[in-house]
Amino acid sequence: METYLTVLVRYVKLFLKEKRRDFMSQTLLEIKDLHVEVEGKPILNGVSLTMRAGEVHALMGPNGSGKSTLSNVLLGHPKYQVMQGKIFYKGEDITSLKTNERAKKGIFLAFQYPVAVPGVTVANFLRTAAKAIFGSEQAIKTFRKTLKEKMALLGMEDSFASRYVNDGFSGGEKKRLEILQMAVLEPRLAVLDETDSGLDIDALKVVAEGINRLSGPENGILLITHYQRILNYVKPQFVHVLMHGKMVRSGGPELAQELELKGYEWVDESVATGV
Ligand SMILES: Nc1ncnc2c1ncn2[C@@H]1O[C@H](COP(=O)(O)OP(=O)(O)OP(=O)(O)O)[C@@H](O)[C@H]1O
Ligand SMILES: [Mg+2]
Repeated sequence: METYLTVLVRYVKLFLKEKRRDFMSQTLLEIKDLHVEVEGKPILNGVSLTMRAGEVHALMGPNGSGKSTLSNVLLGHPKYQVMQGKIFYKGEDITSLKTNERAKKGIFLAFQYPVAVPGVTVANFLRTAAKAIFGSEQAIKTFRKTLKEKMALLGMEDSFASRYVNDGFSGGEKKRLEILQMAVLEPRLAVLDETDSGLDIDALKVVAEGINRLSGPENGILLITHYQRILNYVKPQFVHVLMHGKMVRSGGPELAQELELKGYEWVDESVATGV
């Protein structure tokens, strides 16, 4: 005969399984027919994309196709005007939310060109950012300790914490700092705009490990890249191609390999001919 305890355990297991399924099937991001202008110039002409929790999506496309524009719009950059379409995050319409409100909800953008902030140290910057996102401030000592651990995982020397943000940083160091921010802020949805560009082979592996450590069944990652090589370490389930402000093709990881071999003209031609 079943005891009360075994019945209870069975129900708890069932409940947890359901919860996990909820997470996995949850739509994290839904971009619907997005049209965006910058200073009166149309850049995105009807972009749609759906990402569920637990998924990694790679976004590729030629220079000037609108990838960074899309990432800026996702974070609500005021310069980019949404003329049509909507952005939903966990089912909520966030199209008109301010950048800080989106960040508080767990959306993060790693910039293609991180800016220098002379006078503000990395440690102060990250502690202030964490306070803004989480609402409470960690004691300096505790924060320093966790920061040190996270920096070590990303192969960054301790001295970085007391340097000014991106001031005199090499290209690769800037990209590591973007991932360090991500590690501190632990976002649900991370948009990484060419975080792999300019990294040497070892740095690429370290950064990829950092990204993988933060991906999980509750998170989503939109990885913007020009190169297949990072996709050897951070495995996307979906690859999309943006051209002339439109998603022209979506597929699995094999699409990235095909692009590397054949280039974007191949997509353009196959779109034009309907192949
Ligand atoms: N603030 C701006 N003012 C004027 N034009 C802009 C602005 N931001 C983007 N654009 C234009 O929008 C187009 C798309 O730029 P975007 O940076 O989104 O391309 P991308 O796909 O990220 O390219 P890359 O691969 O080179 O990073 C370009 O023609 C660019 O010049
Ligand atoms: Mg770009």
